[in-house]
Amino acid sequence: MKAKLLSVLCLVAVTASAQIKTSKAIVASMTMEEKARLVVGMGMNMQGITLPAEMSGGPVVGQTQTRVPGAAGTTADIPRVGIKGMVVADGPAGLRIMPDRPNETKKYFATAFPISSLLACTWDTQLIDKVGKAMGNEVKEYGVDVILGPAINIHRNPLGGRNFEYMSEDPYLAGKMSAAIIRGIQSQGVGTSLKHFALNNHETNRNTINVKASQRAIREIYLKGFEIAIKEGKPWTVMSSYNKLNGTYTSQSRELLTDVLRGDWKYKGFVMTDWFGGDNPIEQMKAGNDLIMPGTIKQYETIVKAVKEGKLDEKVLDTNVERILDIMKISPSYAGYKYSNKPNLVAHQAVVRNAATEGMVLLKNDNVALPVAKGKKIAAFGNFAYNLVSGGTGSGDVNEAYTISLIQGLENAGFGLNKNIQNAYEKYLKEEKDKQPKNRSPFMPPPVINELPVTQLDMNEALTADLAIVTIGRISGEFIDRKVENDLNLTDAEKALIAAVSEKFHAQGKKVVVILNVGGPMETASWKSLVDGILLTWQPGQEAGNAIADILSGKVNPSGKLATTFSVKYEDEPAAPGFPGKEIEDKTGHTLGGFMRSKPAEIEYLEGIYVGYRGFDKKNIVPAYEFGYGLSYTTFQYSGLKLSSPTFGKNIVATVTVKNTGKVAGKEIAQLYLSAPVAQLDKPEKELKGFAKTKLLAPGESQTLTFTLEPRDLCSFDDTTSVWVAEGGKYTVKIGASSRNILLQKDFTLPKTLVVEKVNNVLKMK
Ligand code: BGC
Repeated sequence: MKAKLLSVLCLVAVTASAQIKTSKAIVASMTMEEKARLVVGMGMNMQGITLPAEMSGGPVVGQTQTRVPGAAGTTADIPRVGIKGMVVADGPAGLRIMPDRPNETKKYFATAFPISSLLACTWDTQLIDKVGKAMGNEVKEYGVDVILGPAINIHRNPLGGRNFEYMSEDPYLAGKMSAAIIRGIQSQGVGTSLKHFALNNHETNRNTINVKASQRAIREIYLKGFEIAIKEGKPWTVMSSYNKLNGTYTSQSRELLTDVLRGDWKYKGFVMTDWFGGDNPIEQMKAGNDLIMPGTIKQYETIVKAVKEGKLDEKVLDTNVERILDIMKISPSYAGYKYSNKPNLVAHQAVVRNAATEGMVLLKNDNVALPVAKGKKIAAFGNFAYNLVSGGTGSGDVNEAYTISLIQGLENAGFGLNKNIQNAYEKYLKEEKDKQPKNRSPFMPPPVINELPVTQLDMNEALTADLAIVTIGRISGEFIDRKVENDLNLTDAEKALIAAVSEKFHAQGKKVVVILNVGGPMETASWKSLVDGILLTWQPGQEAGNAIADILSGKVNPSGKLATTFSVKYEDEPAAPGFPGKEIEDKTGHTLGGFMRSKPAEIEYLEGIYVGYRGFDKKNIVPAYEFGYGLSYTTFQYSGLKLSSPTFGKNIVATVTVKNTGKVAGKEIAQLYLSAPVAQLDKPEKELKGFAKTKLLAPGESQTLTFTLEPRDLCSFDDTTSVWVAEGGKYTVKIGASSRNILLQKDFTLPKTLVVEKVNNVLKMK
């Protein structure tokens, strides 16, 4: 008993002294093996996933499952020096943990928040901060230290399978929104992992692909969002990506992780790999990829051997360990935080519902098809009306307690429903689901159920309804990209359904509204003229049906605007040529089997900086719905654009007044685009450099919005000298309701060229 008490006291003393010790001092007290143990995670052992032999196991198999079942990984405990390992779990649409635990009836559900593509369409950093706070509460109260998100890769091509986890095609918007969610989450005393750093823009061969991009495109488009999020959000950790960048795995790129991240940007946190990313632990340590996740015995042994043989300087390892410790020391696990396993799930329902309605985008609303008066009877068509998608699959999935169905949401809002149509769909979907294979991987999207043929529906009876809603859904996730046919483009059955419903309902003077319950852009040009309204609801999280009904009923006036262009056809996409890269001969790259399946491949980002609207502008291609577009149930007038000075000094402040000129209250997102003079460098026609969302403006009410342009906002990246430079000349501030609806503009002059920042000349295209 005495001995036990003594050892407890010793442990307390060690822990207490470790807490006041600097990370450097802790490192100095660790053996080399302990350091190697800390830089390699504790392995992965997840339900439903069979790992290839070289990946399975870890220094301690299954510890992740012992601490927080369903978390993606843990770092090692080293009790001798008072180190308690951290638990990390996905991200980014909420905390991904398992709801069930052995021998327990209690459920450990987490909240499914709206997907990031929706959150970005709110253009509302304050709202996103609130979402972050709610997520952070769940992370902390479920015993997790770091959530693996937000994810901020650029929406380069609409077929990217994980675009739903990312924010936008524009780095400025993505960076600002990510910084806001990071601040919100971390305000709860837990960390984030900003991922996937960098240029991981699609899934095909993602673990081995070499992305070839110009230094300018890397800096201006692909790193810019990370730079903003890192400087303004200060994430505890960054996750390197799977791909190679100009010939080197990002997790093994000292240029990326040390010269850019720590050198140019002064980042202070630590970097972890994506799960099983890269192929050389020694290079990872040297590059500044401090933690290898989820971690294998082999990686640990490789590092120990490399230090012993002099191939890895122990000082390098010391730096990696010190960076990890700096973060560990502020983590809840280190402090021995007694988490409750009772996050505020009920309060978060309202956060989800509110955020979801703010990020839905009204694409079309002819003759005031929406809102629909309470009490009206709706005929709901489309498989997804009875199977709403709250979020995507893979690591970005969340195990939520429920998803409010569209039907439930409509009923809650006081609408009537056509029961005949409802019954037909419910019966059909049950039969089809019963036919599906039982043991599916929880990581992959469910098999697609063909649209119930219109011929099997009693269309005449359906006409007893006042209005038709056709829901089109999509679900995608990790490992696979989307396809053009039957995914980006509607299936023949979906087109037939929209056509048949429209013909019938229009013949009776009744309206038809399409709901897009999707994770990424859709082709709309070929069918949008058939319908009266289109509401892009995205995958709106667990309150899906209620949030959709809030918009349909007019309880909430839609105010979301597109954070990514919807093109007329795939061929118009700036990044369509060469997508998703070509497979190449296997020389040094590793080929991965199993669920990671990847072959050596490469892709060149031929469009350079002309991604998204920058590309559509350059080629003068009219999109179906442009970047920044979104309708409201009211109208707004913009007036009185003023610049603080006609000449750029330290900065320029622009002010503009937005007035609600319609009949209902609403919010407007005003956007500031800047057109820079073209001198030495080629420039996009315009680029987003500011945005602001008004408060809820009553009819007739106005608000003055302010935007500040700093020197870096005027800059382009000159890769001949590796500088951020603002070329002298005339700049035009363009204030718009979208990227193609510029309402006011004013010029200012920059008297002479300004070199604003010189950065490391790295990441050259090879
Ligand atoms: C994904 C990451 C995720 C990790 C852990 C990987 O497959 O790319 O985004 O955080 O798994 O689940």
